[in-house]
Amino acid sequence: MAEESQPAVSVVPDDDNEGKFKKSDCVAFYRRQMQGPNLQYRALLDTMVLTEKGARFELLEPDTQTRLVLSVLPCKNDTVKILVDELLPIKARYRVPDVIIGEPQCEQLRVERQTTDSVTLSWSSGRHQVHVWHFPFRVEILCDDEVMVTFNSKGKLWFETLQERPSELQEGPSSLLWQETFKQFVDIKANGPSSIGADFCLHGFSHVYGLPEHADSLQLGDTGDGKPYRLYNLDVFGYELYNRLGLYGSVPLLVAHKLDRTLGVFWLNASETFVNVHHSPTDHQDDQTPPVKRRRVQPQTDVHWLSESGVIDCVVLLGPSPQQLFSQYAQLTGYQALPPLFALGYHQCRWNYNDEADVKAVDAGFDRHNIPYDVIWLDIEHTDGKRYFTWDPVLFPEPVGLQRHLEKKKRKLVIINDPHIKADPNWSLYCEARDGGHFVKDREGQLYQGSCWPGVSCYLDFSRPATRAWYSRCFALDKYKGSTPSLFVWNDMNEPSVFDGPEQTMPKDVVHYGGWEHRELHNLYGFYQHMATAEGLITRSGGSERPFVLSRSFFAGSQRFGAVWTGDNVASWQYLKISIPMLLSLSVVGIVFCGADVGGFVQDPDPELLVRWYQAAALQPFFRGHSAKVTKRREPWLFGEKVTAAIRTVIQQRYCLLPYWYTLFHQAHTSGLPPLRPLWVEFSRDQSTFAVDNQYMIGGALLACPVTEPGLQEIKVLLPGSGEIWYDVQSAKAHKGGKTLSLPVTLDTVPVFQRGGSVVCRSVGSGSCTAELQQLPLCITVALNSQGAADGDLYLDDGHSFDYRDRKSFCLRRFSMLSGRLLCRPASEEGASFDCDTVVQSVTVLGVKSKPSTVIVHVSGAKDTSAAFEFVDTCCSVTVSGLSLRVATDWEIQID
Ligand code: NOJ
Repeated sequence: MAEESQPAVSVVPDDDNEGKFKKSDCVAFYRRQMQGPNLQYRALLDTMVLTEKGARFELLEPDTQTRLVLSVLPCKNDTVKILVDELLPIKARYRVPDVIIGEPQCEQLRVERQTTDSVTLSWSSGRHQVHVWHFPFRVEILCDDEVMVTFNSKGKLWFETLQERPSELQEGPSSLLWQETFKQFVDIKANGPSSIGADFCLHGFSHVYGLPEHADSLQLGDTGDGKPYRLYNLDVFGYELYNRLGLYGSVPLLVAHKLDRTLGVFWLNASETFVNVHHSPTDHQDDQTPPVKRRRVQPQTDVHWLSESGVIDCVVLLGPSPQQLFSQYAQLTGYQALPPLFALGYHQCRWNYNDEADVKAVDAGFDRHNIPYDVIWLDIEHTDGKRYFTWDPVLFPEPVGLQRHLEKKKRKLVIINDPHIKADPNWSLYCEARDGGHFVKDREGQLYQGSCWPGVSCYLDFSRPATRAWYSRCFALDKYKGSTPSLFVWNDMNEPSVFDGPEQTMPKDVVHYGGWEHRELHNLYGFYQHMATAEGLITRSGGSERPFVLSRSFFAGSQRFGAVWTGDNVASWQYLKISIPMLLSLSVVGIVFCGADVGGFVQDPDPELLVRWYQAAALQPFFRGHSAKVTKRREPWLFGEKVTAAIRTVIQQRYCLLPYWYTLFHQAHTSGLPPLRPLWVEFSRDQSTFAVDNQYMIGGALLACPVTEPGLQEIKVLLPGSGEIWYDVQSAKAHKGGKTLSLPVTLDTVPVFQRGGSVVCRSVGSGSCTAELQQLPLCITVALNSQGAADGDLYLDDGHSFDYRDRKSFCLRRFSMLSGRLLCRPASEEGASFDCDTVVQSVTVLGVKSKPSTVIVHVSGAKDTSAAFEFVDTCCSVTVSGLSLRVATDWEIQID
């Protein structure tokens, strides 16, 4: 297909962000709620109906005569759902579909007490209660008689009931309820004003997290400065740092933590949302008061959610531990998909690799420089005129040959596939989509057209099941010409990005499946494309292969479909630094397979920054180098041997650590625990960890503190937990926990510490890609705690298929050490059928008090043998090498 002439529209996004995006004060529904009257809702207690699905009450606001219905539904997994809708709606309001993976089992409520003022309901053991107050209306959730959360504590419940559109809209304030103008864009609201809002008081909490995506610190700050957190998916090139405006994805989950409890509030709404956070001080404010007389006030955080439409549908997750909270949230919105192993390797991307020869040369460069990698990526220029599912006939004439070339080395190709479809009536895929009714419409019922990379484009309506099914089928190997099973997919621009749209996105009055306006489901658009793409890759393999799909936009539940990244960051130290809190914020809300473009997408990093970025990203879940079109080439070997060597080292170390990463992903997939964890998740009773966001845990065993400043000679690392022992992974030196360590650093230093009490499995080498890695033996590092004990798990499977799920074909082993005896045993009864040849070649035990006299190896069913070992007294380590112990069999090593 030749490139025909384009209509005169801008196909280049306007990169000047100033004024492009709305501030909260120019959003009408936000202003209405923030400046609105104090409403006086009452719960009409005599309307209470108790069923096996919880309690239902009518609510009345006498001044406005607003009548609502409240449902309170406690569930078996210690979550409480609160639902508020109109009592007598003139039509149904949007309820977010497809995010919740299964209705949680409800608890039967009992009435404990009832007066004219309030009713107290309890369930199961009676430890938990809800207390519904008539006036002022509020709902308290209690545990052991202590109020943990109050809904409507500040009386901010707001519900704009749907009205018939007046036949003639008078000029004046009321007409503004039906339309809103931003710059040249006029938004006509089919349903008029429909916003909702509510507040929660989180008693005793002063540390709150979550609500991505923002380029901001991990802890959520007080928004008393008039800058609420905005959740509205937008394409923000080179986004500003420490800013609360919305970025590419949104997860409306706020996580609160205090010494003895972690709690979450999940606000299930996909329309534009703002969140105000207000922290109340721990001590009496008046500094004039002598300290002895100061009244101790319990801290609290008030959280006010405001959304443009939909219903109030929220779930309070009661924890109490961080682990329980992650599990509760995963039960609601789904677990992280188990990625194919290759996806955890290193990815090499660039906008763009020029042609097939360029791709092959870069691929060969990795081999020549002995740097492992798994995937090379093609950006939009690989297509024929930005028509996704096609190939540029000149630059990529032999895509199958290219994939076979890579596949011979067990490497993969990822190609980009965006949600806009070039409006080209001569292109069969466009015609098919148009004729199948797969595009969104404008408010007049015509095909909606916006501008993106191909010029004038139509946008697929991924909210429509038939469109998702059609799009999924487009990935079938016989339909997607030039694709092979080793091609995987990258969904970009799916906020969606519309270059000539308001805030560079789709107008809110565009119409989707079911007649719903885009405003109702804006934040779900990318989620649905991600869903359909992952489904397409699964179906193309007949259901046998795990997909890999990277998406820029996301919502709660996107973890079920693959990975996300933090979009168009910049090659500067500040962006390297912010990548850590950004990835931690994603991790605590379930989006655990996440990463940031290594080196920074926009501009050119200097070699020191590039090295530091590789060092940090090698210790983060999704690991991809990527750069914008106009940047200089930056493959790892282009900056001299010293830089190549530094990058090679960390990529190789990443590969060696993949058995551990893969085990963590299996854990995320089965328990909801994120691989990347803020320190407070592991040290939930150590207050000194609550605000830390330059360090993190990789699983429970490793603490990382990447260097994110130039020219650094010494770094301060908080080693939490008095009583803990931390072993420097580079030097094996032991340090006591509960203090801040000053560590000298050179360009080669990557501060990582293994926690005493843990066992970490690594590969003995990196191989050239993950497929080679799978053939290599393992070495095990046992880091003893002060009791001389340690344990840790190892998960193995074929790395690519669903056999681990469908045939229980996996191997889950536990290594545990106590009193000088290391045991290798099954960690689970399941998974016996995986034929696993992997062997352990060496074991290093850190923290051994004195040189042992013997090391005896006992393999079940065989004679005991003594093994040679090395004792290094400077770091109290014993290494037993030359072993060949199958991980799948039971064995023991006794060190005396
Ligand atoms: C924007 C994405 O964020 C970036 O990663 C990509 O290279 C460009 N679109 C071009 O496709």
